[in-house]
Amino acid sequence: MHSFLLTSVCLSLIFARKAVASVAYCNNQDFESGALGVSPSQTYEAALYRPVQLNYALPPDDCPANSQIEGYFFFAPEGPVAMQGGGLIMNPNGTMIYSASAFQPSFLRGLQSYNNSDHVAIWIGDGSPVTGGHGSGYNLLLDNTYTVVANFTVKNLGVGADIHELQITSNNTAVMTAYPTQAANLSAFNGPSDGYVLNCAAQEVDIATGQALFTWQPLNYVDPSECYAAIGEAGSGTADDPWDYFHINSIQKLDDGNYFISSRHCHTLYLINPAGDILWKMGGMKSDFTFGQGANFSWQHHARMHDTNTISVFNNGASTFDQDFPYSQGLLLNFDESAKTVTLNNARSPFNRTVTTSQGSVQILDNGDSFVGWGDMPYFSQHDSSGNILWSAQFAPSEQEVSSYRVFLHDWVARPAAPPSMSISNSSSGTNAVVYAWWNGATEVTAWQLLGSTALTPSRAETLNVVNKVDFETTLTYNGTRRYQNFQVAAMNANGEILEYSSFTSLDGITSPKADNETVTAAPLN
Ligand SMILES: *[C@@H]1O[C@H](CO)[C@@H](O)[C@H](O)[C@H]1NC(C)=O
Ligand SMILES: *[C@@H]1O[C@H](CO)[C@@H](O)[C@H](O)[C@H]1NC(C)=O
Ligand SMILES: *[C@@H]1O[C@H](CO)[C@@H](O)[C@H](O)[C@H]1NC(C)=O
Ligand SMILES: *[C@@H]1O[C@H](CO)[C@@H](O)[C@H](O)[C@H]1NC(C)=O
Ligand SMILES: *[C@@H]1O[C@H](CO)[C@@H](O)[C@H](O)[C@H]1NC(C)=O
Ligand SMILES: *[C@@H]1O[C@H](CO)[C@@H](O)[C@H](O)[C@H]1NC(C)=O
Ligand SMILES: *[C@@H]1O[C@H](CO)[C@@H](O)[C@H](O)[C@H]1NC(C)=O
Ligand SMILES: *[C@@H]1O[C@H](CO)[C@@H](O)[C@H](O)[C@H]1NC(C)=O
Ligand SMILES: *[C@@H]1O[C@H](CO)[C@@H](O)[C@H](O)[C@H]1NC(C)=O
Ligand SMILES: *[C@@H]1O[C@H](CO)[C@@H](O)[C@H](O)[C@H]1NC(C)=O
Repeated sequence: MHSFLLTSVCLSLIFARKAVASVAYCNNQDFESGALGVSPSQTYEAALYRPVQLNYALPPDDCPANSQIEGYFFFAPEGPVAMQGGGLIMNPNGTMIYSASAFQPSFLRGLQSYNNSDHVAIWIGDGSPVTGGHGSGYNLLLDNTYTVVANFTVKNLGVGADIHELQITSNNTAVMTAYPTQAANLSAFNGPSDGYVLNCAAQEVDIATGQALFTWQPLNYVDPSECYAAIGEAGSGTADDPWDYFHINSIQKLDDGNYFISSRHCHTLYLINPAGDILWKMGGMKSDFTFGQGANFSWQHHARMHDTNTISVFNNGASTFDQDFPYSQGLLLNFDESAKTVTLNNARSPFNRTVTTSQGSVQILDNGDSFVGWGDMPYFSQHDSSGNILWSAQFAPSEQEVSSYRVFLHDWVARPAAPPSMSISNSSSGTNAVVYAWWNGATEVTAWQLLGSTALTPSRAETLNVVNKVDFETTLTYNGTRRYQNFQVAAMNANGEILEYSSFTSLDGITSPKADNETVTAAPLN
């Protein structure tokens, strides 16, 4: 999969690049039919990124401006035909804010609060949920300058953290999933007596020291006979293809110190105390709770407890080998811990009424709306507080194997520590120049300045042009009689202040540092 990604980037270098418009499509049938390609993507004149293109299958009223969508999309398109791996932050109008393609292969996990400020969370490792591999790697936290401030994984499990979960707790510890293999006699389950099982783990780690604070693995607590994925359906039980009987896919450490764990293959949400004991089971064969109409789930993802009687969960309702519900839904459930009942608060249905056999997420937004990622179906959607769909966007045709494990909508203000990038078109001269400017990850830029220096060793630069930024990359031109040898760009914010200068680039492509006095004029982010 990743060698394909490299190939596609190289091809775009060999053949003449033609930038493809970035603004989102609105109800474009050719996008859905595949007429625009298996993974419609954006290209730029000079910046070497190929983010996916968005199509609003169910558009907001003012598509493609989509001005009522507040925040940015954080997601990570993956799959055999997905154009560029790694995470993306995107403006609701389809233009890119940030590509995490420097981290490969990786998943963007959205924002998490660490030391009281938002950080971009990224998982890096090998394996892909699409191919059935769970991955073994580590997690990074990037601050609002995209500087890596933490790099951590699980401890003493023989494998690294996998893609399924990362939660930074209110105590700044990290809760993660991992998928170690363990030898087991599986003859009671129609498997080999010298078999192997994935005894997947929930682990809490102290980020600063890397020490494991809590480790829980299901085999000591949940008998495989309580689960729904038989040997043959989720692994054959051999060393190469261990049986994934439990399949942990979300963990949330609660403020009272208990852990809320989702097992996809046992159709159960577990409440576990710090000693590892199961306090209750919600769903599945041994449920302690009874379910009201529409409140049950199977093959579920991304369970989150919001208070002592509300849970959100993505009900896949199907796997690749089973289907219990006509289509997947994002559920908001009410539960009563003493009466042991679960009732449906409301449900979010997909625009396309499809089942999603893997992955998926439900994010409850501050205003009571919610944001649903449809996992294996390359869609996400926003819903009002009753669950009604407001709009739905896709990032690949439905039939293609492009997915995003989870998708988030977050506000974000960031100013990269790395300076802005620029490139001079090779047809430029000192009196007739075309310059491309971009700054991967910057959220505050509203305009770009083009500056020129006549000196061979650039220092004194003059402003030649100012162009509003409407896309990730901005084209700036200079046409005049004065001849410049070096060019530079400066990113400007909405107040007309300069945020940062690029280095100088000469007409023959040689870069020189910016001058000492070209300092940031806008107040720094805190
Ligand atoms: C976060 O806080 C912890 C504990 O207060 C401290 O050790 C660590 O250096 C902080 N990390 C960052 C990136 O600020
Ligand atoms: C994170 O740590 C791992 C080793 O634990 C190392 O291989 C990797 O390069 C680090 N990544 C970053 C981005 O710091
Ligand atoms: C495996 O377990 C079965 C019972 O489920 C038992 O009969 C058999 O002896 C065990 N085999 C080994 C090698 O322990
Ligand atoms: C944070 O630490 C306190 C004190 O040890 C503990 O009571 C609380 O449960 C912890 N919360 C989380 C989410 O870890
Ligand atoms: C969900 O509950 C309904 C009754 O409300 C029942 O018919 C159905 O079988 C249940 N589905 C699963 C997967 O438990
Ligand atoms: C809905 O999804 C199916 C695939 O499951 C696809 O064939 C169809 O074109 C989609 N329709 C729309 C309107 O997106
Ligand atoms: C400019 O670059 C293009 C594409 O890389 C190439 O085809 C062309 O020959 C170059 N022109 C000059 C004058 O170098
Ligand atoms: C400025 O020069 C560039 C490069 O030769 C050219 O493409 C562009 O059309 C010119 N613009 C104007 C307004 O003359
Ligand atoms: C910036 O410093 C350079 C020398 O490093 C000087 O030539 C130039 O005039 C200065 N520019 C401004 C705006 O002060
Ligand atoms: C996309 O939205 C951003 C932020 O609202 C705006 O600055 C930009 O001009 C828009 N781009 C297009 C092509 O509409």
